[in-house]
Amino acid sequence: MQQKPDISDSSAERAVEQMDLPEAQAELERLAALLSQADTAYFRDDAPVMSDADYDSLRQRNAAIEARFPQLIRPDSPGQRVGAAPAEGFGKIRHARRMLSLANAFSDEDVADFVNGIRRFLNLDPQTPLFFTAEPKIDGLSLSLRYEAGRLVHAATRGDGEIGEDVTANARTIADIPQSLADAPDVLEVRGEVYMTHSDFAALNAKQAGIGGKVFANPRNAAAGSLRQLDAEITRQRPLRFFAYAWGALSAPLAATQAGALARLEALGFVPNPLLRKCESLTDLFDTYTAIAAQRAELGYDIDGVVYKLDDLTLQARLGLRSTTPRWAIAHKFPAERAWTLLEGIDIQVGRTGALSPVARLTPVTVGGVVVSNATLHNEDYIAGRDSRGEAIRDGRDIRIGDWVEIYRAGDVIPKIRDIDPARRPDTAIPYQMPDHCPECGSPALREPGESVRRCTGGMICPAQAVERLKHFVSRAAFDIEGLGAKQVESFWRDGWIASPRDIFTLKDRFGPGQPRQLKNREGWGEKSAQKLFDAIDAKRRIPLARFLFALGLRHVGETSAAMLASHYGSWDALRAAMVEAADPDSPAHGELLSIDGVGPVMAQTLISGFAAERAEINALAKLLEIEPASESIADSPVAGKTIVFTGTLERMTRAEAKARAEALGAKVAGSVSARTDLLVAGPGAGSKAKKAADLGVEVIDEDQWLALTGAS
Ligand code: IVH
Repeated sequence: MQQKPDISDSSAERAVEQMDLPEAQAELERLAALLSQADTAYFRDDAPVMSDADYDSLRQRNAAIEARFPQLIRPDSPGQRVGAAPAEGFGKIRHARRMLSLANAFSDEDVADFVNGIRRFLNLDPQTPLFFTAEPKIDGLSLSLRYEAGRLVHAATRGDGEIGEDVTANARTIADIPQSLADAPDVLEVRGEVYMTHSDFAALNAKQAGIGGKVFANPRNAAAGSLRQLDAEITRQRPLRFFAYAWGALSAPLAATQAGALARLEALGFVPNPLLRKCESLTDLFDTYTAIAAQRAELGYDIDGVVYKLDDLTLQARLGLRSTTPRWAIAHKFPAERAWTLLEGIDIQVGRTGALSPVARLTPVTVGGVVVSNATLHNEDYIAGRDSRGEAIRDGRDIRIGDWVEIYRAGDVIPKIRDIDPARRPDTAIPYQMPDHCPECGSPALREPGESVRRCTGGMICPAQAVERLKHFVSRAAFDIEGLGAKQVESFWRDGWIASPRDIFTLKDRFGPGQPRQLKNREGWGEKSAQKLFDAIDAKRRIPLARFLFALGLRHVGETSAAMLASHYGSWDALRAAMVEAADPDSPAHGELLSIDGVGPVMAQTLISGFAAERAEINALAKLLEIEPASESIADSPVAGKTIVFTGTLERMTRAEAKARAEALGAKVAGSVSARTDLLVAGPGAGSKAKKAADLGVEVIDEDQWLALTGAS
């Protein structure tokens, strides 16, 4: 028999309008617990513990507080679990062309580097004019619309860029999205941003609060939450809009320029942003940026920067992509918002690689519409007022507990501390001392020479490292297992059910049907949810190489380098063998590792030693999985898997362009000719390399033959 919860807590009497932030926070916590108890009792146990009227009034109270303090909305907010029906989830759609993200520029200098980089890559002289488009960067969520024979056939969210969620029924309810097109290419994918205006957002939240529904923290969340409704009829009632700014697969080109293509999309019935301008110089770009920034407050929707795109689509194609961003576009972000507050304390967090990260605990303060109560302090040098080379930052001022600090945040990144106010420093404030032992496991925390971080030496005996590693393993960009998030992994780890990543893939064998202890009997789980988790885990046994590599959580291997390594080595077997061979610094494999774009000596060393140290664990894990080779499409290219060397002068493209193109087609580009070289591309003036190639019997071709071979002539 369930105990009746006490809903008449005295704080519940406090009027929402009179609450301050800590009171509101405490009350939301209380309501979340109460309502969750009530939901479980009602839905799972069929044994309600409160009347419908009480339940509704608690939900309304929760919604009213969330409307007043959107920044306090909890991840487990009762408002998020509308109807409590288990979401069956959306179908998945593989994008015919990957959905990209954008590199960022934070200063005029970054923008100048972007433009100069393009000139260098394409070998254009400074007199050649280069045109760009400039348009606002909309703070919403991106959507890809596919039209076949002029009919909208499906709509997908960005997802991980390769696979998104099928929100076709929802997209059909948005007025800015045409259902059918006249005179469009047979296949046309239109991409753009779904967003909500400020006034629509305010009205929606007021309505939601009134009915005890979900209240949103900002217009972007509201747009995302409204689009991703399993019941498209709910989406229909939400005021969503759509700006078109790009395209994916096409059966025929839209135009020769970016601006032309957008004009064509507009003629077809889409809405491009009205502030889009064509620019022909850096000054032009900066003027447009300033003009758009000046209108920001009056636009009526959120933007967080200005996007510049090279106008000429032929040049765009020549520039191509880095791993997830095009070389021909950049987002010039608006400067970060700032605020002053008190530094109440410094907490130490231990990450998956054992790094001790100091985090500032702040008196909560609003920065750019979001309440901030933590900020990163990077490492002990940063706190002491030095950068990694020992040079003074903040004019050498250190950061102490009790200081007034100026914090700033740009976009979604964690807030940072810009400066302190020396005039307001209390006499009692003392310089901060980084702990020399891990606060989680007590092992010594050491700082290696040349390193800026202090690391716990406890390895996997350190609970923080073990848990953080697991959390990383299941995170969105890694294995992304539905129903197995940070919270679940932490609880399984605590009870010894999952100690390392491979245990995830044997969970069913150990706690599935027929086992003495079963997941379905665990608190918070049932027959259905347990089966769902086992299925979700099975679904991720097949995993792309890049994701697998990123999931391993090796130091220095982020998403970008994982993608780069994956596309360089192609398959798991090749990569694993290369890491073993590369342990010998004189081996060709070592040289090859260093030749990969973005791999320097430090990363090479950590990769090699990471693989060596974890070999048994990684191999055991890999045996439970099917690791997909990197991008199958490039395997068909005539140069896929070949090792190519360029020498002499290339006349029709720069070295950088040639190398990028070869790599995009799955080839490896090496700096010197050896017995492993498959092909030498020799331009005029080729010297010793051409001779060596001839001696070794390596095939030699000229630039025109290279262009013909790669389909670029
Ligand atoms: S172009 C070729 N243009 O920003 C790259 N993106 O940070 C495709 N975004 O994922 C994007 N406004 O969701 C482009 N005017 C704009 C944009 C824009 C917002 C979003 C988009 C993208 C993200 C990248």
